[in-house]
Amino acid sequence: MRSIDELKLSGKKLLIRVDYNVPLKGDVITDDNRIRQSVPTLEYALEQDAALILCAHLGRPKGTVVPELTMKPVADHLAKLLGRPVALAPDCVGPEVEKMAASLKPGEVLMLENLRFRAEETGKTPEDRGDFGARLAGLADVYVGDAFGVAHRANASVVDAPRAAGECCLGLLLKKEWEYLGEMLRDPGRPYVAVSGGAKVSGKLGVINNLLGKVDDLIIGGAMANTFLLAQGKPVGASLVEADLLDVARGVLADAEEKGTRLHLPVDVVCGRSVEDEVPMGTFGTGWLPEDAMILDIGPRTIEAYVAVLAKAGTTVWNGPMGLFENPAFADGTMAVCRTIAGNHGVTIVGGGDTDVVVHQAGLEKDFSFISTGGGSFLEFLEGKELPAFKALKECSKK
Ligand code: 3PG
Repeated sequence: MRSIDELKLSGKKLLIRVDYNVPLKGDVITDDNRIRQSVPTLEYALEQDAALILCAHLGRPKGTVVPELTMKPVADHLAKLLGRPVALAPDCVGPEVEKMAASLKPGEVLMLENLRFRAEETGKTPEDRGDFGARLAGLADVYVGDAFGVAHRANASVVDAPRAAGECCLGLLLKKEWEYLGEMLRDPGRPYVAVSGGAKVSGKLGVINNLLGKVDDLIIGGAMANTFLLAQGKPVGASLVEADLLDVARGVLADAEEKGTRLHLPVDVVCGRSVEDEVPMGTFGTGWLPEDAMILDIGPRTIEAYVAVLAKAGTTVWNGPMGLFENPAFADGTMAVCRTIAGNHGVTIVGGGDTDVVVHQAGLEKDFSFISTGGGSFLEFLEGKELPAFKALKECSKK
């Protein structure tokens, strides 16, 4: 796949698919990380004398115009970050947008209105999507894919637009995601350690199954560990479990052994009676728990064991917190894991769900090799799936 720094851009118009699906309170952006992450690509293209047409979605308006989901706050914020005007088109296709795109000059930036105001964007079949992707591509000379967060969605702007474009390439952000997730993990430094946390085994099963046999160690924490503990016949009190997945969890434990991956589970846990407790009810070994206890963090002996594995890792991939880190009473396990990975000198990759929130909360973002901008797409990548965005960009690169 070609990347943007391999193309001649001067005087060209670029259609750049970015992921600006940012959280909003009214029209205030509460976390602009995704917008900031796109800036290097945009600045690079502007320095090369290109004109930029940006396209993105915001929320899930399902094919109708929802005024609260306009791209206006994003365009205004980006203008501040770039230090130049960012015009907002009234739609993403149509005569007026075509006119605005046609008159765009090098160094100018135009943002299209929310792609998901059009039902074709998220159409399930090529027929549902119609020529929407081709019409987007037709606004520019080159298609630039730079939206890893949406790389797992076969949306018109993600798969049809690059296929219809005359020329296409990866933006700098997507290139970095590909280098870390695609290339570096193909031949990882050993020991290769994966850390999987969060609430549910069900959401991570694809990732776990794909990693067994590939990673040397798989560390499990968060409420998903409870299901494994219960599957081993250990008490979990009033904790969150997926009782229908006990056989599946036993299967994972057996597979790990067969495939040579050391699977690590908590040996002690910190419990509360409620998720709002300001002080934990206590720390218990995994052999016995009060019936009303909810497991809300890993305990100190588990932290010690996990830290020992993580400190020696050559490559670490981390997804999901070890406990209810949002409540300081149950944040120790997650923060200890975060600090240990941050202090590791090998390759350290974080992505998905709340994991980047933990890293930012700890102020350790500079100490990780790479923080992925993907949530669902990061997980699908770790599941071993070929993401639709990369498939389309590969096809287009062959033209
Ligand atoms: C995200 O926020 O994870 C991406 O932008 C994808 O959004 P979606 O889950 O609404 O498709």
